[in-house]
Amino acid sequence: MKPSAFVFDAYGTLFDVTAAARRAAADDPSGQLQQIWPRLADDWRRKQLEYTWLRTIMRQHADFAEVTAAALDWAMEAQGLGADHALRQKLLALYDELDAFPEVAGVLTRLRETGVPLAILSNGTPGMLKSAIDHAGLGDLLTAALSVEEVGIYKPAAKVYAMVEARLQVPPSKVLFVSSNGWDVAGAAHFGFQTAWVNRGNAPLDRLPHVPRHILKDLTPLADLMK
Ligand code: LAC
Repeated sequence: MKPSAFVFDAYGTLFDVTAAARRAAADDPSGQLQQIWPRLADDWRRKQLEYTWLRTIMRQHADFAEVTAAALDWAMEAQGLGADHALRQKLLALYDELDAFPEVAGVLTRLRETGVPLAILSNGTPGMLKSAIDHAGLGDLLTAALSVEEVGIYKPAAKVYAMVEARLQVPPSKVLFVSSNGWDVAGAAHFGFQTAWVNRGNAPLDRLPHVPRHILKDLTPLADLMK
């Protein structure tokens, strides 16, 4: 059965979250980021996600912009860069202009041509998502960009996934939810979506309930699902 809607996670799925640290390193006259940027990017992402889950359990929601900045502070201090305020500002600005992965615009264009609605469902704030979407030129391809800020809780809370039916009027069983985050795919499958896990980094499958229906190297094979 062809999906009646495609819903995408944003960070790591459509947008390359390592791009901010990589671009800062490429444009760093001191060379101090040359060796450490991959570790910085990895710590930043891991802490960012941990803080979303911990704040959810603690019922201490703060939006994704605040969580992202807090995670960067941790990651920079871990690399001895805690006092570099200019670098902090630069990395946060670059996070608003992350590169989309190379195949994204082409695949979304092909899917959109079939008439199927396409949406983003993300932890990002509406402002962060708008910046990323505008930077990547994806605005015209998307029916909706849904932010968890509407419900004030992070993925994988069911309330987040429930936003899709409320907005797109498509029941969960007819939605294909696409994410590079194994835990997000598990949460979405648990909610009742069909799922595709985008395993760009050849990672092991998460040991969580629910197995993804599709496992992809990147988004390219999605277009074939509508043939
Ligand atoms: C998002 C994070 C989980 O976009 O990647 O929701």
